[in-house]
Amino acid sequence: MSGSIVLFGPPGAGKGTQAGRIVKMTGKPQVSTGDMLRAAVSDGSDLGKEAKEYMDAGLLVPDSVIIGLIVERLKRTDASSGVLFDGFPRTIPQAEALESVANVIAVVSIEVPDDAIVDRIVGRRMDPETGDIYHVEYNPAPLEIEKRLIQRKDDTEETVRSRLLAYHKQTAPLADWYSEKGLLFSVDGNGTIDEVAESIRDSIVGI
Ligand code: AP5
Repeated sequence: MSGSIVLFGPPGAGKGTQAGRIVKMTGKPQVSTGDMLRAAVSDGSDLGKEAKEYMDAGLLVPDSVIIGLIVERLKRTDASSGVLFDGFPRTIPQAEALESVANVIAVVSIEVPDDAIVDRIVGRRMDPETGDIYHVEYNPAPLEIEKRLIQRKDDTEETVRSRLLAYHKQTAPLADWYSEKGLLFSVDGNGTIDEVAESIRDSIVGI
């Protein structure tokens, strides 16, 4: 299928977890603005320094910074048949900017209520070597790699609350925006990781 897919949903909905499976299914490269920003922070670049303040506070990084990152990323040859956006767009101006640089063919919204989100995020652990995502209870890592797992700096209960506020105020309105364009596919994100993956596959298989 030609064109880009957007993975949409609140923080901790499971976008990153599901992205790897959709990449395998579609062959489209994953473009995660969160991962790009974390790489910039760890490189210590000017962009990283600016972004870090927003990320640590659970606020959205300014649209101009994000749009610039995406425009550059889409120039790479692997993006020519479309990509899988994870965590982008997150505001109406980002979505409008995206319209001029990519053809979005589906927006998959993973729906999870706020009360499940805090638990998911506070228990999340990342493997810094592979980027794999685990959860202390719902998706435990193999014992042999447990010691090297890290917790994201913004994965505290306090920061999650700010991220949820930002989501409801600035990002959630995009669901209606994409629904009006006939591009929104909503899936229940409350099942197991495999069940959610199956719902996503069913929703995009025919596009
Ligand atoms: P970003 O990295 O994009 O974070 P996010 O959207 O808050 O999403 P997360 O990565 O927290 O969650 P996820 O949905 O990927 O869930 P995951 O699969 O890990 O952004 C971080 C920050 O960068 C933002 O706050 C902002 O400052 C900035 N930023 C990024 N993009 C931006 C943009 N476009 N504009 C402006 N600013 C931007 O799963 C979470 C946990 O749940 C894991 O432990 C997982 O194992 C577990 N889990 C997953 N699925 C299930 C399931 N079905 N059942 C039980 N547990 C599950």
